[in-house]
Amino acid sequence: MILVTGGAGYIGSHFVLKMLEKGEEVIVFDNLELGHIEIIDKLKKYGKLKFIKGDLKILDDIRGVFLSNKDISSVVHFAAYSQVAESVKHPQKYYYNNVYGTLNLLNAMLEFGVKKIIFSSTAATYGNPKYTPIDENHLQNPINPYGNTKLMIEKIMDDYDKAYGLKSVRLRYFNVAGADSESRIGEWHVPETHLIPNILKADKNKSFKMFGTDYETNDGTCIRDYINIEDLVQAHIKALEYLNKQEITNYFNIGTNGGNSVKEVFNICEQIKGEKIPIEIQQRREGDPAVLVADNTKAKQILNWIPEHDLNYSIKTAYKWENIIK
Ligand code: UFG
Repeated sequence: MILVTGGAGYIGSHFVLKMLEKGEEVIVFDNLELGHIEIIDKLKKYGKLKFIKGDLKILDDIRGVFLSNKDISSVVHFAAYSQVAESVKHPQKYYYNNVYGTLNLLNAMLEFGVKKIIFSSTAATYGNPKYTPIDENHLQNPINPYGNTKLMIEKIMDDYDKAYGLKSVRLRYFNVAGADSESRIGEWHVPETHLIPNILKADKNKSFKMFGTDYETNDGTCIRDYINIEDLVQAHIKALEYLNKQEITNYFNIGTNGGNSVKEVFNICEQIKGEKIPIEIQQRREGDPAVLVADNTKAKQILNWIPEHDLNYSIKTAYKWENIIK
């Protein structure tokens, strides 16, 4: 049985859906601060899902899960705060939730002899890239507290492997985009800060705010590597297979090897919506590097993972989902 933390959130829920469809039994542990109970109710239709409401910051909450579920074989750990700008303003919140919460999880795993974990790391652990695309050997030097928390956890995992044999696969996500291809679930953040949903949500009453047009890129806007949510889920499935088979710690970039500027994303969104989207140019947002593009060779070679969906497809699925939750 697999334990999924943060399974009521955007990425976690898409992973859970695929696992349920594969016939796996899943326990979701989520405090529902950012996740949604409506998503859990929906996911329950697709297989054997047990939901436990609890908080990783409370050691006994997560100990209780292992205590009453002795057949947990591995953990997929999505639960975290993940907004760069918020982490700059409230680092305390980020270190407490992300680092302390994960320590409780890892310690509970050790206590109950569970020694395999897939961890959601991030491109933000690299900081300002020294070269592009970024491979896994690139220096990890985060420029914001969010990236720091994720890097700290990666280091804790290395030390826990050396000392206690806890094996981790860390997936360093680039920018995740899109929704379930059948529109059953999708991206649902409150408040929404991400580019694609914000462009799609904009209308005559609320214009889209473009943060910075004076970057050193072709069109002056930031370039990001948009990885489709279902491709990202596949990477987790491959990572889990790898961990079960090889039983070694490893880490992989999960991106597409290509990037799109904010303006390009905006233009595709306008095309897909079939209407002009009101736009407002604003100052740069704090903590945003100009370019973040993944070199995904390692994941392709070792995990045998290949992303299949392009940005256009991700935006189409995101748009369908936006119309459902409107
Ligand atoms: N942007 C806008 N307007 C908006 C929202 C975003 O112009 O309303 C711009 C941002 O300034 C940035 C780009 O669009 O240049 C992408 O921004 P997102 O907020 O969608 O994504 P980020 O790149 O900031 O962050 C995402 C995840 C992080 C992760 C990071 C790694 O949210 O958790 O990718 O690359 F760390």
